[in-house]
Amino acid sequence: MPLTFGSMRKIIVITGGTGGIGYAVASALAQQGNNIIFQGRDSAKGKKIAMELSSTNGSTARFIAADVSSVDGIKDLATAIKKLTNKIDIFIQATGVLNSERCETKEGLYGSFAVNYLCKFMLDHLLLDELKHGQGKIIIVGGPLRKGATINFNDLHLKTNYSLFKSIGQNQLAIHMHAQEFSKRYGSTIPINVVNAGMVKTGIDRNVKGFMKLVFLVLGPILANSIEKAIINVIALAETGGKDSGYFYPKVAKPAIKEKINLDVAVAVKLWDESLKIGKLNA
Ligand SMILES: NC(=O)c1ccc[n+]([C@@H]2O[C@H](COP(=O)([O-])OP(=O)(O)OC[C@H]3O[C@@H](n4cnc5c(N)ncnc54)[C@H](OP(=O)(O)O)[C@@H]3O)[C@@H](O)[C@H]2O)c1
Repeated sequence: MPLTFGSMRKIIVITGGTGGIGYAVASALAQQGNNIIFQGRDSAKGKKIAMELSSTNGSTARFIAADVSSVDGIKDLATAIKKLTNKIDIFIQATGVLNSERCETKEGLYGSFAVNYLCKFMLDHLLLDELKHGQGKIIIVGGPLRKGATINFNDLHLKTNYSLFKSIGQNQLAIHMHAQEFSKRYGSTIPINVVNAGMVKTGIDRNVKGFMKLVFLVLGPILANSIEKAIINVIALAETGGKDSGYFYPKVAKPAIKEKINLDVAVAVKLWDESLKIGKLNA
């Protein structure tokens, strides 16, 4: 049954709300008294966080347990969100994973493609009506583009020569292309933007192995930002009434600095069409 929310408060949906950045964002927005719907996989952890957020400043928090590493899992999450609300004011997408080794989803995709990119692409489509009924602002927690990154249409699922950096490069490029293309089609009513969280010590490196694990361990404490800094751009975007769309916020904790995403349109359209097919979505 849909929830009844206080009319002055925003309805904010946060994917990955049980992890480092998503959880910090959920806490900050709950402190402002907003109504939060958040997702993660672990029910016990999610229920505990929901209780904590609900005891904050009159906020209401609802948890949804969902695994988004498959097309069906992403669709189930969209259905669960629709059951709780028919309007979304702010949609913050912060699911993510880094995998040193390629793990394959039910559909033959590599895991981080589903969790980091496809989940965002599909949910933005599946929740279009709810976004239109609310203020409908989409904020994607992402990262900068990697030099030389491409969308590898000949082997989109990286079945050959998989590497952590190749997967990060393709995922981030796909996220930026999605924001550009979505903005072109819906940005006047549903603004969409990508925010760089920068390097933060969270659970994101749990599947990183070998030399890169060592790099994370050694350089992490030196280079990482605090979580408080990492969420500044997200909170600023959530709070502003601005209608900017199709931008990337590249500098951590500097929400005034933004760059219009300006990538190859033909590639972005091709990826959009391919993603519709993978997600079995209507155009
Ligand atoms: N940390 C960084 O240095 C950094 C840098 C740039 C960008 N980012 C981006 O920031 C976002 C958040 O990352 P984080 O650092 O906060 O990572 P995190 O602490 O590992 O949190 C990731 C979140 O995603 C959820 N998640 C992971 N796999 C999932 C799956 N298969 N199904 C459903 N939910 C899943 C986790 O849920 P569970 O609690 O169930 O695991 C958790 O809520 C990601 O998009 C990441 O790419 C992070």
